[in-house]
Amino acid sequence: MKKIIITYGTFDLFHVGHVRLLKRLKDLGDYLIVGVSSDEFNALKGKKSFFSYAERAEIVSSCIYVDKVFPENNWEQKKTDVIKYNVDIFAMGNDWDGEFDFLNEYCDVVYLQRTEDISTTDIKRSLSKIRESDLVEVENLLHSVIEIIKALKS
Ligand code: CTP
Repeated sequence: MKKIIITYGTFDLFHVGHVRLLKRLKDLGDYLIVGVSSDEFNALKGKKSFFSYAERAEIVSSCIYVDKVFPENNWEQKKTDVIKYNVDIFAMGNDWDGEFDFLNEYCDVVYLQRTEDISTTDIKRSLSKIRESDLVEVENLLHSVIEIIKALKS
């Protein structure tokens, strides 16, 4: 029987903290499912991502530790996802410590240590200090990265 792990997040401006979390999650079992926040769900949370849902889902899917990606559209779906996918372990970074303990009824719930000193919020803050002209260049570079990922996958 495969051990199934599920996690959720926005995963905007995909960074090493995300990679390390996904690696450690995959090490917990055999099959890693990631619920990526949809743009509508982010709006509901008062967040706006740099990359669209389609782009973030494509980037997360291309990570070798990830087996399946689907959209997270609301706060309520976690319980139904856990049941639907027959999940063994529900896991999040410890910024969510205790928040999802109610899922203990259906599977193990674990919170992993976050990687220190990196977050999407910090990256955005650093980028906002760059001059507007430089920012356009960074945006173009990030979109080129997506084109490279697409080319590698085709
Ligand atoms: N995460 C982590 N280590 C980091 C950053 C994030 O382990 N340094 C984990 C989070 O705990 C979460 C998942 O990665 O379980 C997705 O987090 P997300 O909120 O998308 O990333 P953040 O960088 O925390 O984004 P933000 O600053 O917008 O909260």
